[in-house]
Amino acid sequence: MQLSVIGCGYLGAVHAASMASLGHTVVGIDVDEAKIAKLSQGVAPFHEPGFTEILQAGIDSGRLTFSTDFAAAADADVHFIGVGTPQRKDGQGADLTYVDASVASLVPHLKAGSLIAGKSTVPVGTAARLAEIVAPTGAHLAWNPEFLREGFAVKDTVDPDRLVYGVADATRDEDVATLDAVYASILERETPRLVMDYATAELVKISANSFLATKISFINAMAEIAEVTGADVTQLADAIGYDARIGRKFLNAGVGFGGGCLPKDIRAFTARAEELGKGDSLAFLKEIDEINLRRRQRVVDLVVDSFDGSVFGKRVAVLGLAFKPDSDDIRDSPALDVAVRLKGLGAEVVAYDPEAIENARRLHPQLSYADSLDAALEGSEAVAVVTEWKQFRELDPAETAAKVARPVIFDGRNVLDPAAWRAAGWTYAGMGR
Ligand code: UDX
Repeated sequence: MQLSVIGCGYLGAVHAASMASLGHTVVGIDVDEAKIAKLSQGVAPFHEPGFTEILQAGIDSGRLTFSTDFAAAADADVHFIGVGTPQRKDGQGADLTYVDASVASLVPHLKAGSLIAGKSTVPVGTAARLAEIVAPTGAHLAWNPEFLREGFAVKDTVDPDRLVYGVADATRDEDVATLDAVYASILERETPRLVMDYATAELVKISANSFLATKISFINAMAEIAEVTGADVTQLADAIGYDARIGRKFLNAGVGFGGGCLPKDIRAFTARAEELGKGDSLAFLKEIDEINLRRRQRVVDLVVDSFDGSVFGKRVAVLGLAFKPDSDDIRDSPALDVAVRLKGLGAEVVAYDPEAIENARRLHPQLSYADSLDAALEGSEAVAVVTEWKQFRELDPAETAAKVARPVIFDGRNVLDPAAWRAAGWTYAGMGR
């Protein structure tokens, strides 16, 4: 099929290359000329395992192209909208500028019978509003949310847990058939495919992310209780996780969640519920947000306490800047926030991350960044592990002790073995353990 993908950020670029890998002819469109230039040359604008390979293969096959001109989308049977819906600068709600602009720019180029399939996470009610704008062109609109995780984006796109189609009653059969044709090779594997109305599809996505955020904040709340009772939250998570109804996944206590989705989605959902007169229903999400933000300060407090109340002039190695491992994404990153807060208290912060330094430096040039893990550790008086990259998880306690000036470590992700680190002479503190 002929497809267009509007927006070539994380979601859009991965979707475009993944659809080409399934055999479709795809044009990716973005207003950012630098991004389009990079992608056209087969260069990934972000770190994502497996993405460069399918990008390059798509370009080499001649089936994947990129453009800044919406006219290039004119021949497409399906137009996917994969632009960002960040938090509004003036509030908690979602900023729909990019979604609205994408649809407005597409309208003059839509052929009758083509389908716009929205993938971006939007407030409930958005698809119905956009459908009215699209209707006069004779094109249709569906909402087809994406559940990809960074670090697993390609796998999650070509081999998803489920496909969700939000469609209009009037054109239901036709639009379902169109999306089925796009995803034919995925459906062959009997991937669950759920057809529903617009509002339900929009809510599926935002409620899934809210549930995940709630799970993480739940275990972080348990960590807070563990901290005043001497309990160990990791053992607690293991024990409750064996109950299949609870499950062990997403019960890792630590510095909390960040990234381009979970934090802004729970805020946008709360804001939308308030608009709908149902603020009470989602009031708990504010609590989820607050628990999450408190955990960043907890790591900072632990570091400060270890210096008897002042980190001024103390050399602190901050290991990790990305919001999670295998990503260079620093959006709303708890790790970067910890580094910035410590620096704000006068610490001599030396930060290291295998992939995210370039992005972090652009946003926070005031921080010092080390070229290597060793350079960050050298002479440090405290070490804080705040993103669980493999190379940090595998640090050898004895070898690491020989590099630092003072063997004090804060395990902001509960990924180190406390007994092994203590045995090598370290003062160890985790989160809720
Ligand atoms: C998330 C959703 O998982 C995905 O389905 C959706 O499409 C987009 O948002 P992503 O932002 O890539 O994906 O990251 P995710 O793996 O969900 O992690 C989010 C944050 O939660 C990270 O900062 C991670 O470190 C943190 N986290 C995750 C925890 O603190 N504890 C956990 O147990 C799991």
